[in-house]
Amino acid sequence: FKVIVPAHPLISHWVSVLRDQDTPSHAFRNAMGELGRLLMYEATRDWLPTTVREIQSPMGPAVVESINHMEPIIIVPILRAGLALAEHVTSVLPSTRTFHLGMARDERTLQPSVYLNKLPNRFPEGCHILLMDPMLATGGTVTAAVDLLKYHGAEITQIRIISAVVAPPALKKLHRKFPGICVYTGAMDQNVNEKGFIVPGLGDAGDRSYG
Ligand code: PRP
Repeated sequence: FKVIVPAHPLISHWVSVLRDQDTPSHAFRNAMGELGRLLMYEATRDWLPTTVREIQSPMGPAVVESINHMEPIIIVPILRAGLALAEHVTSVLPSTRTFHLGMARDERTLQPSVYLNKLPNRFPEGCHILLMDPMLATGGTVTAAVDLLKYHGAEITQIRIISAVVAPPALKKLHRKFPGICVYTGAMDQNVNEKGFIVPGLGDAGDRSYG
């Protein structure tokens, strides 16, 4: 189980914009997209499938390494807020497929439910899946989502989670259920309050993105 908070001033910067209650919706969404872009870059650093081959450059033969499109890279954003986090995916990853997962947490019980499942019946062999959700608070949503990915044929080693801010209850739950999983995040916070919000966190990511 690994939780990685990449040390980069741009990552801290975009988290600071997200945390600020005075950031308006359009700037919040942009910051979320930028953070998602940087975290996708980090999460795929040692993970993207590549192939080595020889091509001809204008100056002669050259051995090059490029992305192996035979092992698809799949983005699974958890709606709504995951959409903002995944917004700039096409400017980082050369070719991806996106499968949406709509999940909402009951405000009172904090239990998640799935209202949209566009996952394929079975994920393709050897694919790499980036599961994107800005907030891992109690962890109910993300663990239910990983269960669903497994149900659709994914192995834990094929999944990496990308999040803006995470809290200890979610990390504990993930660690207990899926000890091999990796999480890339912009920040690790200390608390989740009685309403299920991360403190200091950034508020309700879905509402702040989409009003
Ligand atoms: C929020 C957030 C996560 C979830 C985290 O979504 O975006 O998906 O809650 O909480 P948990 O770790 O306690 O399960 P919400 O249900 O508010 O939906 P939204 O993105 O549509 O606002």
